[in-house]
Amino acid sequence: MCGIVGFTGDAQAAPILLYGLERLEYRGYDSAGITVNSGAGTLLTEKASGRLANLAVRTDNGTTLRGTCGIGHTRWATHGEPTDNNAHPHVASSGKISIVHNGIIENYRKLKDWLLDKGVKFHSETDTEVVSQLIDYYYEGDLLNAVRKAVYKLEGSYALGIVAADEPSTIIGVRKEGPLIAAYTEDAAYLASDVTAILKYCRDVIYLEDDSIVVIKPGSVTCYNKYGKVQNLTPVTIDWDIEAAQKGGYAHYMLKEIYEQPRVLRDTLAGRITEDGGSVNLSEAGLTREILRSVRKVHIVGCGSAYHAGVVAKYQLESFARIACEVTLASEFRYSSPVVQPGTLCVVISQSGETADSIAALREAKSLGVSVLAVVNVRGSTISREADYVLYTNAGPEIAVATSKAYSAQVAAMTLLAIALAEFNSGVNRESLLAVLGDLRKLPDLAEKVLADVAPVQLAASRYFNRGSVFFIGRGLDYAAALEASLKLKEISYIHSEAYAGGELKHGTISLIEPGTLVVAVALCSKLAEKIESNIKEVKTRGAEVLAVTSESLAGDFADSGDIVITVPDTHELLTPLLAALPLQLFAYYTALNNGCDIDKPRNLAKSVTVE
Ligand code: G6P
Repeated sequence: MCGIVGFTGDAQAAPILLYGLERLEYRGYDSAGITVNSGAGTLLTEKASGRLANLAVRTDNGTTLRGTCGIGHTRWATHGEPTDNNAHPHVASSGKISIVHNGIIENYRKLKDWLLDKGVKFHSETDTEVVSQLIDYYYEGDLLNAVRKAVYKLEGSYALGIVAADEPSTIIGVRKEGPLIAAYTEDAAYLASDVTAILKYCRDVIYLEDDSIVVIKPGSVTCYNKYGKVQNLTPVTIDWDIEAAQKGGYAHYMLKEIYEQPRVLRDTLAGRITEDGGSVNLSEAGLTREILRSVRKVHIVGCGSAYHAGVVAKYQLESFARIACEVTLASEFRYSSPVVQPGTLCVVISQSGETADSIAALREAKSLGVSVLAVVNVRGSTISREADYVLYTNAGPEIAVATSKAYSAQVAAMTLLAIALAEFNSGVNRESLLAVLGDLRKLPDLAEKVLADVAPVQLAASRYFNRGSVFFIGRGLDYAAALEASLKLKEISYIHSEAYAGGELKHGTISLIEPGTLVVAVALCSKLAEKIESNIKEVKTRGAEVLAVTSESLAGDFADSGDIVITVPDTHELLTPLLAALPLQLFAYYTALNNGCDIDKPRNLAKSVTVE
């Protein structure tokens, strides 16, 4: 979604803003812009549709906009096409107020009509422009006061950055539902929608609360709640390594993040398996044995890949822990009239912790009186702050829009939860627990082994990269893994793909199979191998080519039916999705590479979706 950055200090603002916007590029955007206060009663604004490079060229890397205080923005269009004119910042007709916005102003039509009646002229098709015109309408020499009056009239979700020509070193930030952080050093201060934009300058960041307004001046950040009372918000220290947010020699962030998975698995498991290897300890997340013992049902919500991690967890929770589990898309949760029973634990899975639909689901669950566990990657994010319990996924910063390591970390964290809950299932004996935990501890090493053997994946991608349509099939946990694999492929290669439970293809979709259609069969679960083999026969008979992803011990079964067979080491059945994900992510990556796609920034997608 849209990215916001602001800087005020004694250095030139525009290059710092461009640097920050570059760090936010991964969130997905279609245009960008900057306003800098000249310090002489004027605002200097430049905007450009397309990539940030266009803005850098237009401003000669920021050198044409001279001034030490400013705001910048990368836009993901909602209202109005991605043109120069609709790009942010939006400057009010007087030229005195400029704003950047992430979110949607739901009552903008009403406000626009009201302002039009008062003779205000509009210059864009955006909902955002009403905010700059409204602040300008109320401005009488006190920006904070004008912002307060304007915000009072706004409905919807928003994070705003605002500057005024006559207040040369002040930036005002407003947060309602959209993520926004502020930070300061001795002689400067920053505003941003994501820590990556400012990590180079400071590590202690303040996460703004909903409905708060922040006044940012060099060396200070003052937060006010909606009643105008000063808030003392404690800064959170971000321990992410800046290197971790850079490519480190890889061609793309996505490839680097795929290869980070052994480390990510180690970090997500670290300290959560007891020293004797026989038990899971999630007390760090606030989940004591008493709380775990009381869980009767798990209701998981998430979006995109986080939802798919939830589907994996459902199979694990039901088959191993024997706990009923429902998985609902976060965007549907509110509309599905969830039935909650005593003992229901709602689990919100989210990498960013800022996905609007997941936040809404969390709030809905809490309003129904259910305890919420957040499985989140970003510390201090909204979901982590609002949940009752937080299990961090320790994946580190993920920059590529298409998730890889954060998804695996989510699956690993949910596996721990399933095992922790299984300990209260009298049917699970100590040997079974020791077996799964033993294999779980070996998993990072196995992941390393899988990632070292990339040749078969590259061969498959070079043979199949130009297929028009791909079907992924699997059963049980393999089906859950197939869902994510299919999403990965379509996200970054733009090839139409769908995942089906192996038994389901014949109920309609098999009509689409024709000579040359690619079917990717995920077949790591031994007890379902024969069934999936039959499904492979069904599609092969109709001319499909088959790429089989299976385990070493099952490879023989697929030697004849798969046109290409990729194998991963054997592991406990419950853990197979963690290994299956690796070659399938690499298959998506190399297919996209062969198609010349913009892998880290696929068209139309955003990393963090902060609108509903
Ligand atoms: C976007 C991203 C996906 C992600 C989903 C949920 O669509 O492109 O990769 O899975 O949002 O994001 P979250 O941050 O809540 O995990």
